[in-house]
Amino acid sequence: MTTACANYPGGQLPSNVHLLAQTPQLRALMTMIRDTNTNRNDFIFYSDRIIRLLVEEGLNYLPLVEQQIETPTGLPYHGVAFQGKICGVPIIRAGEAMEKGLRECCKGVRIGKILIQRNEETAQPELYYSKLPSDIAERYVLLLDPMLATGGSAIKAIEVLLETGVHEDRIVFLNLLAVPDGIDAVLARFPKLRIVTADVDPGLNDKKFIVPGLGDFGDRYFGSSH
Ligand code: PRP
Ligand code: URA
Repeated sequence: MTTACANYPGGQLPSNVHLLAQTPQLRALMTMIRDTNTNRNDFIFYSDRIIRLLVEEGLNYLPLVEQQIETPTGLPYHGVAFQGKICGVPIIRAGEAMEKGLRECCKGVRIGKILIQRNEETAQPELYYSKLPSDIAERYVLLLDPMLATGGSAIKAIEVLLETGVHEDRIVFLNLLAVPDGIDAVLARFPKLRIVTADVDPGLNDKKFIVPGLGDFGDRYFGSSH
């Protein structure tokens, strides 16, 4: 099943890209974080709320097994349980803003880290560091980064994951804001990847920032500036 999206060419997202339901609440939250006049405290608060929605939605794409339990009435209930082990991997720095939301939903979740920075002149991603759980190849991975612009950073991070043996079809990339070119670039390399995003903007400006976008997510969330 595909999702309608006015900013994606043809009006329908690829089937492995999931857009959060554009509810009045989500639209109001996105408006808060897009507003250049929103102060840092509010930016953090409203971003965290959207991140929580993204994590909750992302968990719907993990496999389940049937599980029968007994309720306090002594009767059986035919339910389900998550099947596999998971791991969260934020792309540092901005992706670390999404770690708390994941921990709130998944008690004791394993966390790996990949440090990638876009070169401010060329917008090319530069990989500095990665540290991942030794058994990550057996896990489903929730890759965390709020911004999907050119797609370069996500591609580099996914390359690192695949090199350590993670299965491409076991990666769910959670992100707040994407553009069609970034989505296409990532899916052209990794067609089995799943992306869950809160919103899709039309494109990038000449500095490779998402427009209209929300500016530099990491700077606004962590309170730094260029
Ligand atoms: C931002 C963002 C992504 C990347 C997206 O990080 O968090 O990682 O840019 O752009 P791309 O799709 O064109 O690669 P940035 O490198 O600015 O660093 P930060 O996390 O420190 O803000
Ligand atoms: N990174 C950001 O923080 N914002 C953009 O618009 C693009 C990359």
